[in-house]
Amino acid sequence: MKKSNSKLWGGRFSAGTAESVEAFTASIDVDSRLYRHDIMGSIAHAKMLAKQKIIPSRDARKIVRGLEAIRREIDAGKFAFSPADEDIHMNIERRLTEKIGAAGGKLHTARSRNDQVALDMRLYLRDEVTVIIESLSVLQRELARAAKKHLDVIMPGYTHLQRAQPVLLAHHLLAYYDMFGRDRERFIDSLERINVLPLGSGAIAGTTFPIDRVYVAKLLGFPRISKNSIDAVSDRDFLLEFLAASSILFVHLSRWADEFVLWSSQEFAFIELPDGYCTGSSMMPQKKNPDVPELIRGKSGRVFGHLQALLTIMKGLPLAYNRDLQEDKVPLFDTADTVKASVRIMGEIVAGMKVRRERMREAARDGFMNATDLADYLVERGMAFRAAHEVVGRVVQFCIGQGKRIEELSMAELKRFSDRIDKKVYNYLSAEAVVGRRRALGGTARQNVVRRLKELRV
Ligand code: ARG
Repeated sequence: MKKSNSKLWGGRFSAGTAESVEAFTASIDVDSRLYRHDIMGSIAHAKMLAKQKIIPSRDARKIVRGLEAIRREIDAGKFAFSPADEDIHMNIERRLTEKIGAAGGKLHTARSRNDQVALDMRLYLRDEVTVIIESLSVLQRELARAAKKHLDVIMPGYTHLQRAQPVLLAHHLLAYYDMFGRDRERFIDSLERINVLPLGSGAIAGTTFPIDRVYVAKLLGFPRISKNSIDAVSDRDFLLEFLAASSILFVHLSRWADEFVLWSSQEFAFIELPDGYCTGSSMMPQKKNPDVPELIRGKSGRVFGHLQALLTIMKGLPLAYNRDLQEDKVPLFDTADTVKASVRIMGEIVAGMKVRRERMREAARDGFMNATDLADYLVERGMAFRAAHEVVGRVVQFCIGQGKRIEELSMAELKRFSDRIDKKVYNYLSAEAVVGRRRALGGTARQNVVRRLKELRV
């Protein structure tokens, strides 16, 4: 066992930490990326300590300058992180004392790593969520642009993955616009609960020093301050919320990715993905594979897993801080990275996809997708909908036997099913007419889609 009593908390120990334990408990490999936020929080804390005369102003100035220098060292890749110092908080504190001497030891007055790490996570997540909100706007903009560009493209709309009714591709794209819009709202809303200052809670019970939490909150841009120190050091709801919002976002990304995979297959051939976003096969020379959407679909597994992981970490924890909470880092960081990368690349694919409008239009001709409209046509001519449904069912059955579409039947053939049918039916049943009649709010009619695009200002 290696002896080491040089820990920042080493006073109470007569033996050093086992090497295996040092390696096992260290989080520096994972949490070093918190350094900017850790330093930002420490600077605010030091300024407050000086303002409250808890430490001399001269020391606070040294601390602030020292922390800024450390930030530059880390920025430049010149900082030697040490697992012996466990985590980012202690790595920075040790370096601070190395640089500025005894004053460095005053920074941690009226503070615990428990409220410090809670603060860092909130500062970090606030920045990540802000980036994600913006990147979702970019993805939405790409979707709206694509919708506008392909405004007249008709495609089959599916239920049960069976052709159902023709829709505008633009309407389909704008469905994703709305899904990502809800995701954006969820992230915006989550900021409300991320933006709460936990610092000042100490290890669990608060602090004896006359700190000014309102001042720290102002320096760090927190509109709210936590009200219960026990809750503040053990609360990770804001992370759970982020992982939940990310998981729902990934449900949407994954569904869209799945459609990309389907649509770019030879069976559908509705779209072609840009070459730069596909990969080949090491064996089959003809292959052009949609790996990017496949990976987005696959990465949903990690993100859902991270949510599950943190829920499991949290569920049995007695109040307040427990070391288990250190395990919140990987779920957060990996989710944030995965979300940012996936949303960005999805936008690029949407911008670069080639739409094979003829294929879509052709597919929209088959599958009796105007059958509902023939029923509506009969209803307009006085038949009850249930009866019309029955009549059209028989028409479809006849068509299947003949290998024809409804609109390919002769007038005489159609009349056999109902004498309410006249030659106006042929125009009535065209895919354009079918789409164009869905004018009720939220329907696929072109004029609705145009109105929606205007609303979105594309
Ligand atoms: N590295 C720890 C974490 O991420 C920091 C807090 C440690 N607190 C403690 N009492 N050991 O949770």
